Amino acid sequence: MAYAEITENGHPEHLSFFRRWFMSTNHKDIGTLYLIFACCAGLIGGMMSVAMRYQLMMPGGHLFGADHQAYNVVVTGHGLTMIFFTIMPALIFGFGNWFIPLMIGAPDMPFHGSTISAFGCSSRPSPCC
Ligand code: HEM
Repeated sequence: MAYAEITENGHPEHLSFFRRWFMSTNHKDIGTLYLIFACCAGLIGGMMSVAMRYQLMMPGGHLFGADHQAYNVVVTGHGLTMIFFTIMPALIFGFGNWFIPLMIGAPDMPFHGSTISAFGCSSRPSPCC
């Protein structure tokens, strides 16, 4: 069970926040983690779109001035963040983890230990840090 293990004396063992969420093997917990991750990435991508709109608000640009390369970097960062860190984690992994077991009548995803490990790998800059 993901939320709390039932101990021998019948009382639930309350898990720390880290163990409750980041060591959970429950498909709904993992799906929720992906959805929260996608929301955070969406806010970052959204901040980049605000920067772009501010730059394009008037001729000449206010934010980046004559540094056109910096503007290009923000456009690329916005596009990559929105597609690979917002849309794909939310639709494929968030909703996938949540709904596929429910739709096929399975108790959980297969290899759910791998699924939470995959979240740990995908939500960090690199698997090494
Ligand atoms: C599904 C993914 C995306 C979402 C949800 C999204 C969302 C947004 C939003 C809300 C704005 C602000 C619009 C405005 O200021 O009127 C914006 C602006 C912009 N986005 Fe995206 N975006 C996505 C993908 C991309 C991609 C892939 C690119 C290209 C690499 C891109 C390039 C731009 C540019 C250039 C602007 C500035 C346009 C302007 O303000 O005139 N976006 N985006």
